[in-house]
Amino acid sequence: MINDYLRKDLNDFKPYHAPEKEYEVKIDANENPYSHSPEVLSKACQWLLEKDNITRYPDTDQHKLREKLAEIHHVSKDNITCGVGSDQLIEYIIKAFIEPGNVILSPNPSFSMYALSNTLNHGKTINYELEKDFSYNIDHIIDLYKEHNPKIIFICTPNNPTGTTINKEKLHKLLEVVKCPVVIDEAYGEFINEGMINEVSSYKQIVVLRTFSKAFGLAGLRVGYAIASQEMIEAINICKAPYNLSSFSAKMAMLVLEYLSYYQEQVQVLLNNRTIFMKQLKCIPTIEEVYPSEANFVLVKVKNIDIIKILENNKILVRGYGTEGRLAYCMRITVGTKEENEILIQTLNKYK
Ligand SMILES: Cc1ncc(COP(=O)(O)O)c(C=O)c1O
Repeated sequence: MINDYLRKDLNDFKPYHAPEKEYEVKIDANENPYSHSPEVLSKACQWLLEKDNITRYPDTDQHKLREKLAEIHHVSKDNITCGVGSDQLIEYIIKAFIEPGNVILSPNPSFSMYALSNTLNHGKTINYELEKDFSYNIDHIIDLYKEHNPKIIFICTPNNPTGTTINKEKLHKLLEVVKCPVVIDEAYGEFINEGMINEVSSYKQIVVLRTFSKAFGLAGLRVGYAIASQEMIEAINICKAPYNLSSFSAKMAMLVLEYLSYYQEQVQVLLNNRTIFMKQLKCIPTIEEVYPSEANFVLVKVKNIDIIKILENNKILVRGYGTEGRLAYCMRITVGTKEENEILIQTLNKYK
């Protein structure tokens, strides 16, 4: 009966699904496998004990967190807005710019939330295909821009799940032509040297998205932020729910930033782990191809898709992509601790 009232366009809609599964090694969601700094945890506990910290509503504008982020990124706090994960910012940006039937351009293959949020907002998604090696083809995006007059273009760099990046020269070429908002999703930005945050003063149409869910180990607390021109931030904030970020999440994000070097060292460790891990993956008989990666995950093509189920039965979770489409027979593996990587390699080696 409820379905009679449901929006007709949602009858066949497949919501984002991340099933809970038992695991011993969880390398399916690109989280940071290492622990938090003991000082951060101790300060967090202390903070929870203080009167009023969680009984009162949080600061709806996240002033302190934005100030800290502004200091780190050398921008003004007016250039920043925070969300419940960068997922929420994707949703706000779409709400702010997309009217029913408007087009967004989204990479394929890439992160599914751009199209998902857009569909929920009555927008139309046109995918632009990445090249065979999953690199970006800027001329192709420019052609589609001219053809479809999109209201937003999404770029994901490093791209999830392919691990490919787009360099600044290519982005500049695009930004010299396109006038619409361009979202540059840098969820894995801490793993690369060169991001676009320092370009927000030159290009008023860009929004750079960052998250605390990956390098900073706060996936469970859902904190993301956008950096853009003040005009762009004001537009996004029109759609912002009051008190969106919990006070504890904002506090934890600030604590993590206070101990920035601790997390930067973890990033270095993960990058070293990735180098070793990729070499090992290349020697595994059931793996047909290991794609280059600039992020904390690696995309591989397997000969037999059953291996994903086998790993799951061994309580090792990876992200599989089935047997159809551009990611057929691929799985995305998060770079874990040395021990976790070793367990995966040993398990894969058992199945020739
Ligand atoms: C490319 C990309 N963007 C955004 C997100 C969402 O991150 P958050 O946890 O901040 O919502 C993810 C999460 O996997 C991602 O891979």
